[in-house]
Amino acid sequence: MGRIAYVNGRYVPHAEAMVHIEDRGYQFGDGVYEVCEIKGGALIDEARHLARLKRSLGELYIGQPLTEAALAVVLREVIRRNRVKDGYVYLQVTRGVAPREHVFPPASVRPALVITTRAVDPKKGAAAAAKGIAVITLPDIRWKRPDIKTIGLLPNVLARQAAKEQGAGEAWLIDADGMITEGAASNAWIVTHANTIITREIDNGILSGVTRATLFDLIGKEGLQLEERRFSLAEAKAAREAFITGATSVVMPVVSIDGAPVGDGKPGPLAQRLRALFHSVAMRSP
Ligand code: PDD
Repeated sequence: MGRIAYVNGRYVPHAEAMVHIEDRGYQFGDGVYEVCEIKGGALIDEARHLARLKRSLGELYIGQPLTEAALAVVLREVIRRNRVKDGYVYLQVTRGVAPREHVFPPASVRPALVITTRAVDPKKGAAAAAKGIAVITLPDIRWKRPDIKTIGLLPNVLARQAAKEQGAGEAWLIDADGMITEGAASNAWIVTHANTIITREIDNGILSGVTRATLFDLIGKEGLQLEERRFSLAEAKAAREAFITGATSVVMPVVSIDGAPVGDGKPGPLAQRLRALFHSVAMRSP
């Protein structure tokens, strides 16, 4: 069975799914996106993803492409038509199609909506987590609003490519004060030798991760110590454990930073435990 995508009101074969050359996403990166995990046929933390989508759209004055109820139906229809049980759904909204001009098009131009889904073998993530990943660090050269989940991801793309070329799975970005902001496509965490879990506080400098928010719920439930604050590269290198979170990585242990082992250089027990328990607290919507 071929893959099906949703493009502006139509379900079309993936290979034939097209957007106009004057889509503002294509020309300006003028759009936002979400990636939501699908596990056992259910959407994970759908409400949090849709709330963040709404916020991203609002920050950029882009209209809602569909009502939330209609969007929920379309998401499920794309997943159903592709028979995805485990994987991801990708949703992108742009300011629409209009002759290229920086200023917004007239209000009559509708936002453009594309939804795709992909099956992923859950064993792959489990195998990666059993080994842990290496991270490299790079200066955070992004714009000052990475709290908005825009499709303009050039610094993130360059960072991930640099990581790959150095055999790493993620790049941690460092701000002008030498503090880690987040990963190119994930939030960054460390665990101190006193077992305190640390991740940067939410401001305009990082994306408010859905996985991060759900992990806060789990950490609270487990009675673990959490500090929401900035941490430096030196503190990260001296940490007992490190890990990343994101819809595509869930909780992924970090075993080295810039080539130096974190702790004993093996996936940390706390990170592994949080990964194992994560879906017991995450919201599942069939
Ligand atoms: N990225 N920070 C950045 C810069 C991200 O791109 C992501 C997610 C996160 C984690 O957010 P969440 O837990 O809501 O997935 C943090 C997605 C997965 C991506 O771009 O593919």
